[in-house]
Amino acid sequence: MAGLFDLTGKTALVTGGARGIGRMIAGGLLDAGAKVYLTSRRPDAAAEAAAELSARGEVIGLASDVSDAAAIRALAEDLAGREPRLDVLVNNAGATWGQPLDAFGEPGWDRVMDLNLKSPFFLVQALLPLLRAAATPADPARILNVGSVDGLATSRFENFSYAASKAGLHHLTRVLAARLAHENITVNAIAPGPFETRMIAFALEADRSAVEALTPMNRLGEPDDIAGAAVYLASCASAYVTGVVLPVDGGMSVAPR
Ligand SMILES: NC(=O)c1ccc[n+]([C@@H]2O[C@H](COP(=O)([O-])OP(=O)(O)OC[C@H]3O[C@@H](n4cnc5c(N)ncnc54)[C@H](OP(=O)(O)O)[C@@H]3O)[C@@H](O)[C@H]2O)c1
Repeated sequence: MAGLFDLTGKTALVTGGARGIGRMIAGGLLDAGAKVYLTSRRPDAAAEAAAELSARGEVIGLASDVSDAAAIRALAEDLAGREPRLDVLVNNAGATWGQPLDAFGEPGWDRVMDLNLKSPFFLVQALLPLLRAAATPADPARILNVGSVDGLATSRFENFSYAASKAGLHHLTRVLAARLAHENITVNAIAPGPFETRMIAFALEADRSAVEALTPMNRLGEPDDIAGAAVYLASCASAYVTGVVLPVDGGMSVAPR
């Protein structure tokens, strides 16, 4: 059974893998045996995270701003120069924006949509040659999109573009899954509930127990919760699974508080 989840010999790319949920996923993939490339906009943060994670496996930090189309193409070229194939692409980098409805501005709409929805699509497009090189019927190449519980159910936060971008990413997951299934590339999404990262630091600082109470399990997600889901979706255990959005949210999407 352990072999079913073994990622030895696999190569993965995790965007925004230097901190937060991306780093939790990168750590899980490393623990399962994968070689991991992670990106950060900041070269020092990418190098620092890679150095810290290197005790868990082979990890390379790359500087890249995946919100930029030219940077996406450059990242794909860089990877193609280093690797003959890419087994797992994790589209994790994301941003949020909160503003009251009447004041919500265009920058908060465009930046969030560009990074959360447009970038994953163009990353997939740019990396398809490497993903195709890894794809086999018995063990497909994998695309994992990090969505959100806010794309499944409405929340009390005024995060209009964020919620819409994540719902869009969930549906893009299904559309790409349908398109790429016959090429032996699976496309799935993970929809996290609250995890302790910089993204929700403002809410945790304001009232930690209120955030915990948003989930019926009354707790935040732990690194192993997200790592377990990512390793499953990256491994042979999920070879016949595509187009799903897997909530990892302590029940929040089925029983919102
Ligand atoms: N935390 C939660 O409760 C929660 C819940 C549901 C979904 N999520 C999703 O989980 C993913 C990771 O978020 P997080 O919670 O870990 O938040 P975070 O700590 O704020 O991390 C955001 C990540 O996205 C990257 N990023 C931000 N802006 C970027 C840009 N313009 N270009 C490239 N990368 C950029 C950051 O990389 P650098 O700053 O290093 O460049 C960082 O690694 C996001 O997609 C988020 O929507 C989080």
